Amino acid sequence: MEQYEIEHNRVLREFGAECTVLLKSDGAFPLEKPCELALYGSGARRTVKGGTGSGEVNSRTFVTAEAGLEAAGFTVTTKPWLEHYGALWQAEKKRFLRRLKRDALKRGTLAVLSDMGAVMPEPEYQLPLEGSGEAAIYVLARISGEGSDRKPVPGDILLTKTEIRDILTLNRKYKRFLLVLNVGGVVDLSPVTEVRNILLLSQLGVETGSILADILLGKANPSGKLSTTWDSWDAASKLGSFGDRDDTRYREGIYVGYRRFGSTGQKPLFPFGFGLSYTAFTLRPGRLRREGEQILAEVRVKNTGRYPGKETVQLYVSQPWGRLDKPFQVLAAFGKTESLQPGEETTLCLSFSLRELASYDEARACWILEPGDYLLRLGNSSAARPAAVLRLDGEAIVKQVKNCLGKPDFRDWKPEAPQAQPVDGLPVLHFRAADLETETVDYELPQEIDPLVAGLDEETLCLLNIGAFKQKGAQGVVGNAANAVAGAAGETASCLRDQGVPALVMADGPAGLRLSRRYTKDETGVHPLDGSMPETVMELMPAPAALAMRLLEKRQKAEAPIYEQNCTAIPIGTALAQSWNLELARRCGDIVGDEMERFGVQLWLAPALNLHRDVRCGRNFEYFSEDPLLSGSFAAAITRGVQAHPGCGVTVKHFAANNQETNRYSSNSQVSERALRELYLRGFEIAVREGRPHALMSSYNLINGVHSSERWDLIQDVLRAEFGFAGIVMTDWILSSMYYGKHKYPAPNAARIAAAGNDLVMPGGKGDLKAMLKGLETGLVTREQLEINATRVVKMARTLATPDGEQEAGRG
Ligand code: BGC
Repeated sequence: MEQYEIEHNRVLREFGAECTVLLKSDGAFPLEKPCELALYGSGARRTVKGGTGSGEVNSRTFVTAEAGLEAAGFTVTTKPWLEHYGALWQAEKKRFLRRLKRDALKRGTLAVLSDMGAVMPEPEYQLPLEGSGEAAIYVLARISGEGSDRKPVPGDILLTKTEIRDILTLNRKYKRFLLVLNVGGVVDLSPVTEVRNILLLSQLGVETGSILADILLGKANPSGKLSTTWDSWDAASKLGSFGDRDDTRYREGIYVGYRRFGSTGQKPLFPFGFGLSYTAFTLRPGRLRREGEQILAEVRVKNTGRYPGKETVQLYVSQPWGRLDKPFQVLAAFGKTESLQPGEETTLCLSFSLRELASYDEARACWILEPGDYLLRLGNSSAARPAAVLRLDGEAIVKQVKNCLGKPDFRDWKPEAPQAQPVDGLPVLHFRAADLETETVDYELPQEIDPLVAGLDEETLCLLNIGAFKQKGAQGVVGNAANAVAGAAGETASCLRDQGVPALVMADGPAGLRLSRRYTKDETGVHPLDGSMPETVMELMPAPAALAMRLLEKRQKAEAPIYEQNCTAIPIGTALAQSWNLELARRCGDIVGDEMERFGVQLWLAPALNLHRDVRCGRNFEYFSEDPLLSGSFAAAITRGVQAHPGCGVTVKHFAANNQETNRYSSNSQVSERALRELYLRGFEIAVREGRPHALMSSYNLINGVHSSERWDLIQDVLRAEFGFAGIVMTDWILSSMYYGKHKYPAPNAARIAAAGNDLVMPGGKGDLKAMLKGLETGLVTREQLEINATRVVKMARTLATPDGEQEAGRG
């Protein structure tokens, strides 16, 4: 291992436990010292470090739960169980893949096109629980990824009969039993609520197993809090639709996650923001004051338990109902302490601006604060206690915008009455509506055209609006579209290289930097070896195609030298958000930025901050949370970490309302302007304002009937004019070949995309060039707009690329 890898792994191990959530604890853990352990479960040996798909990171090493525990000195007494489980899982997987391929052929398609990310539910089996030891650990794993959604079936969102039986048996048999959840999203724990110790380990990248060992031995104390509500599948929201092929109706409006639970009075199994610790804390509200529109709330936090640990304090607000209905509460601010020793006390100061609490009034296209009492609630989870009141004397319009995002064919659901009740005897801060100014937006932004771009012929101009593509041979697909850096997902055109405008190389995320671990190179460019294509894609390939690719790789491997690029898999997005520690996210960004510099990548295709609208979304693990403040703040923090490295930028994705994978290229999210603005765009606004990302990726889906990538109102009016975004916008990897079969909505078109101010069609292809040239001819897009888009790309290339315009193909 090289020094940078050792250092990156060290950082991850140091703070990993902050991303894990202790859901239940009876004090049986931590263990005093390494001992004999009965280790079971799907994730014991087949531990999952992150999900599948474009976010899969090719690291040199990965510590499984079994390996981590053994390295820490534990003796695993259940080797036969682990062997048997492994063999039966392999056999089941073979059958599963055969079935997928056969069924796809029957439907007249290929599994690699229609079943990407399909998850094999855990099998049922009967294996004796014969191990022994001072404690038993059951590691339950789940995996998912882009292309498919999760299902409420046993072995996916639900537990299998086998899992329930084995978990409950172990819980009864051992005084010290820990259920460890090596999952990226919610599983329904309702059948095993009697289990006394449950740790949501999550998927923590390269060091997953070592972090588990540290937690078991009390070398690290879990201090994460849920970034999404955990409940049983039966209690999941059925208000809106999910996973519909053509139109998904976000009927629940703004009542997503804890916003719904609070508003209906339902109590979930584990609320948003919840998490225990080996130690205990008390919170005491301190001084409350205002500085202009800013509210500052001090909180005293004391460690009253026996172990050192960190605590997260959360501040929620219940807003008054008026013309608009309001959720029971929304998260307004949060903060995390440093590690406190037993008995130690500290003061945290949480702050937010009154303006940030505004609701969107569709009738008047403005953000308003309604008169009345805003009840502040303080706690270490969303089950927080009333602490103070902000009293506003009248209505304030804090920002005037325009409605522009279309309309769904329904009205949003709303609760019948407010749930929040007034509380007497709390400190009150008074605000005058007249003191809150109304912000306005200038939608006529100045457009710049670079003289170099103005002089280009039409084809070159179009090429600058499209990702670089190979004129000959197979079209670029995820993981091999780029020519300069092996395994990068794409790059911009290099047609102006001689004029000092180098190509921008883009590589995937979000759980680290996705590159090929090994590659060869010749005068035609780089050639990725193993790991260039996600494993989940390879296994769905028809056998002849997979064989051809392997043979090609074999031939390339014979052509030494072989170069290496080892990247560090960091915790998945949800795990990062569970830390509620923005500094930790910044440090992860720093790891990624360091590797981008090392391997010559300018744009990282991450962070991903779509909301956890529904537990079934197959990509939730990549995303942070069900709450836009938490999501946006984490995206901004990781952005700061990456962009502190010269020549490195992030690409926040997928803008917007991209909350399901079913029919992802052409599903239409029907959603109200209020829900869009208060939930689905809000995180992006925070990420843009606080993180200043260099790039953003529009999403595949449509919003109210129009593809996100073709919406001028979304990209130009909202993103650039309202949010102040100054970077480049690229499409998601459209792969026109994926738009096969019949669709209700037409495929996006390169000319319409460019006309919407979406600067780059990625990864680019001959079809895109043809469509753009034709669009120019027919007036679908103007030359002026292409020049404006190309200017933004050229400026970004000059800003980010190395000064002499030369891209090194990997320094590893
Ligand atoms: C995914 C993106 C990813 C892109 C490039 C797409 O399939 O949706 O998140 O960045 O591929 O790999």
